[in-house]
Amino acid sequence: MRIAMIGSGYVGLVSGACFADFGHDVICVDKAADKIAALKEGRIPIFEPGLDELVASNVEAGRLSFSTELAEPVAWADVVFIGVGTPSRRGDGHADLSYVFAAAREIARSMQGFTVVVTKSTVPVGTGDEVERIILQERPNADFAVVSNPEFLREGAAIDDFKRPDRIVVGLEDERARDVMSEVYRPLYLNSAPLLFTQRRTSELIKYAANAFLAMKITFINEIADLCESVGANVQEVSRGIGLDNRIGSKFLHAGPGYGGSCFPKDTLALVKTAQDSGTPVRLIEATVAINDTRKRAMARKVVAACGGDVRGKTIAILGLTFKPNTDDMRDAPSLAIIQALQDLGARVKAYDPEGMAHAKHLLDPSVVYATGPYDCAEGADALVIVTEWNQFRALDLRRLGEVMAKPILVDLRNIYARDDVERLGFSYTGIGTSTRRDYRVGMAAE
Ligand code: UDX
Repeated sequence: MRIAMIGSGYVGLVSGACFADFGHDVICVDKAADKIAALKEGRIPIFEPGLDELVASNVEAGRLSFSTELAEPVAWADVVFIGVGTPSRRGDGHADLSYVFAAAREIARSMQGFTVVVTKSTVPVGTGDEVERIILQERPNADFAVVSNPEFLREGAAIDDFKRPDRIVVGLEDERARDVMSEVYRPLYLNSAPLLFTQRRTSELIKYAANAFLAMKITFINEIADLCESVGANVQEVSRGIGLDNRIGSKFLHAGPGYGGSCFPKDTLALVKTAQDSGTPVRLIEATVAINDTRKRAMARKVVAACGGDVRGKTIAILGLTFKPNTDDMRDAPSLAIIQALQDLGARVKAYDPEGMAHAKHLLDPSVVYATGPYDCAEGADALVIVTEWNQFRALDLRRLGEVMAKPILVDLRNIYARDDVERLGFSYTGIGTSTRRDYRVGMAAE
């Protein structure tokens, strides 16, 4: 198959490289000349484990190339994927579809022969219909089919997720497109990944429903964690205890500082807007969005409490800035809200992240001091706060930390340390949903 990938950001680049690795011929297109120039020189503009080797080997094999021009690749392709961004629109939270529609218009002008146009970007229900309308408007006689094929990959594990998906969802209204999409994904369903064909609108909604459900699951366990703290229970054991029930499942039940990233915050908000507009509000998701928004900043209160009620003039060391490990992505990262809140309360902030500091410098107050490593970050600090669970933070030498810190206080927002181990070394320990409180008694409210 000949595939043109319009948009070489996260989803476009990973998908394009993986399709090439399946043996298809792929041209990744992007308007950003610096991005395409970098890719042509073998430099990958995003941090994703394994992507540089995957791109290099497929470029060398002659199956993957890059272009800033859309017309030729589209004319050449059997399948054109739209993988451009759909950020939250400023002001109203709806997904901004201007890049998708602009791409559709340009694709329409250049298509030759029967062409399958696939939206891979996360797009609200009905976008496929609009893309179809735009193409027909530009080229009333064009021979094409518009397909929805959402992407479920996670940053940091993107290549593995793409190559070993739980399922592939394809929404279409045209039988010819079914054959083409079957051919595109043949290497995967031969590996027994279920290929779910459905209608286009259903496919578009599946993506939002999946992300909203996962965001809700995280938010559920985060609220249970708060409850654990109030009543003296342990959220990790609650999580294990409920997750072993197959109907619930153990994944996405790690309590933490709230979800962030490029997808959950924007997609939950977009689903809320779509549902409100259609007169069918999704109240569980509305609550999820509101709870998660307040949670991030509220994490600063945990730090304040761990510091004895005040952080004014104190130095707080933050380990981990990105929204999760193995990425340099800072979008909607909990660290942003937590650091801002600590600074508002008068704290001095030092921070270290293995990959995120370059982006963080543009987003955080210039007074933040960036460290060269975890021990440098902890030097002289009144408390150390783990915000992102990078592997290199999982086995810190606590004795050494204790020696360099002004006060041995650890706030572990990802529960990567065991309270007993840390306290044994003379630290005070605050985790998520793991308090040792024993003052709650049954019937307390009735008294
Ligand atoms: C997510 C979806 O998983 C993926 O299917 C979709 O295509 C894009 O959005 P991603 O944003 O890369 O992927 O990261 P993910 O690993 O899902 O984590 C999202 C956020 O949830 C992170 O901030 C993470 O720390 C948080 N999280 C995740 C938790 O707090 N607890 C968990 O148990 C799982």
